Amino acid sequence: MGEPPPNLAARLRAHGQQHLLADWAALDVNARERLVEQLAGVDFAELERLFRRRNEPHAALPSRERIAPVPMEPRTTAAIAVGEAAIRRGEVAALLVAGGQATRLGTDRPKGVYPVGPVSGASLFQIHAEKVLALRRRYSANIPFLVMTSPATHDETIEFFTKNRFFGLPPDSVTFFQQGTMPALDLATGRLLMEAPGRLCLSPNGHGGTLTALADSGLLAKLKANGIRHLFYFQVDNPLVRVADPAFVGRHVETSSEVSSKVVAKTDPAEKVGVLGLVDGRCSILEYSDLPHAMANERATDGGLVFRAGSPAIHLFSLEFLERITSGPTRLDFHLAKKKVNCLDDAGKPFAPTVENALKFELFIFDALPLADRWLVMEVRREDEFAPLKNATGADSPATVRKLLIDRAARWLESAGVQVPRANGESKFPLEIGPRFALDESEFRIKLPNGFAINGPTLLNT
Ligand code: UTP
Repeated sequence: MGEPPPNLAARLRAHGQQHLLADWAALDVNARERLVEQLAGVDFAELERLFRRRNEPHAALPSRERIAPVPMEPRTTAAIAVGEAAIRRGEVAALLVAGGQATRLGTDRPKGVYPVGPVSGASLFQIHAEKVLALRRRYSANIPFLVMTSPATHDETIEFFTKNRFFGLPPDSVTFFQQGTMPALDLATGRLLMEAPGRLCLSPNGHGGTLTALADSGLLAKLKANGIRHLFYFQVDNPLVRVADPAFVGRHVETSSEVSSKVVAKTDPAEKVGVLGLVDGRCSILEYSDLPHAMANERATDGGLVFRAGSPAIHLFSLEFLERITSGPTRLDFHLAKKKVNCLDDAGKPFAPTVENALKFELFIFDALPLADRWLVMEVRREDEFAPLKNATGADSPATVRKLLIDRAARWLESAGVQVPRANGESKFPLEIGPRFALDESEFRIKLPNGFAINGPTLLNT
């Protein structure tokens, strides 16, 4: 490839982006091909539309009169049989989103390879995969396991699963698919930023990119052809998630819900989680950064927060709903964020900004919620199902995740009559109950050997 393809050069000129070919002469053939491929995936008209929105004020929430707390139902065991039957019939697939860049955790590896098992050091990927494996065994069911990656995580994720022999899952039951990317724009000019000569600054297009990626890859149609009717969505950073919890699946099926979401009660008004609420009667997520202080602090007569339905990002989508929202004109819209992005300056030299220099774009999965005509919200106990890994230290860090896993193991052991040695209220030893031993407390009680005692670090996972 000697000269840049003429239609490409013309396209860039039409959008004022000629600078993207400035280094062409210095690039080798492979770099040229990669650049042409990257540019082929860019929708310049869409980027211009988004750039024009850069200074729009963040859409304010509608007036308080149009917002109400979302009705929540408790997790009960009544619907388990219905959920189990759907899983046995092979109607449920598990979808793990693992394309994020884990910037706050500060690792340059996929977050899924991060070790969190308090005794075993099991990775997030291992824990999730073993949950799917245990479900498959328990219900003798085929449960397709879809793992969404991004260019930032794809190769290493596949390598990790392969090296670990898919954690016991049949390899053909695991599908990796990549989400889309979006370029970062120069905040002042709208020009695409380059991270290196011939390479655009691209980042994953947000967890909402799952829906487009599912549809565009043909995976949605394939799932449907294979009899899948419900897609359980979960995020890689929560090792306590109950994958395809039969009680949740059961209520979702019983109510013919298009989207069902789990929530955990927020007790601290300042907690940084999105809150589910009704906006004009539709189930929506109110982002913590948008929630006015007065609403975040509003108390009901029982003293609890009115808007307490915190989202751990656990959803169940009906396949029909996903088809509807990805095939019509109602695609999700991008959220804009001003960020500091390392890039090349006008002279082609590496530049590390000290103030926001770039505009980035992300789709959010929860923007799909208000599109549902029938929905369900189920409240679950936070300590049973939510241990987010977001930061390197402090809240939602490896230390808090590890403690939550140990605490849950200690609760299960004590409720089964085992004495857990404690010091200052905490278990003296690290404890871990893996998915291959038990997926829930009732299974744990059945499997725990008589006379089981704890004398040191304890791992149960076979
Ligand atoms: P977060 O929004 O917490 O992002 O993702 P993150 O990448 O884990 O961490 P930060 O924000 O860079 O520190 C929540 C979940 O959504 C996935 C993540 O992998 C995680 O499971 N995600 C996020 C994607 O799959 N793709 C994205 O583009 C963004």
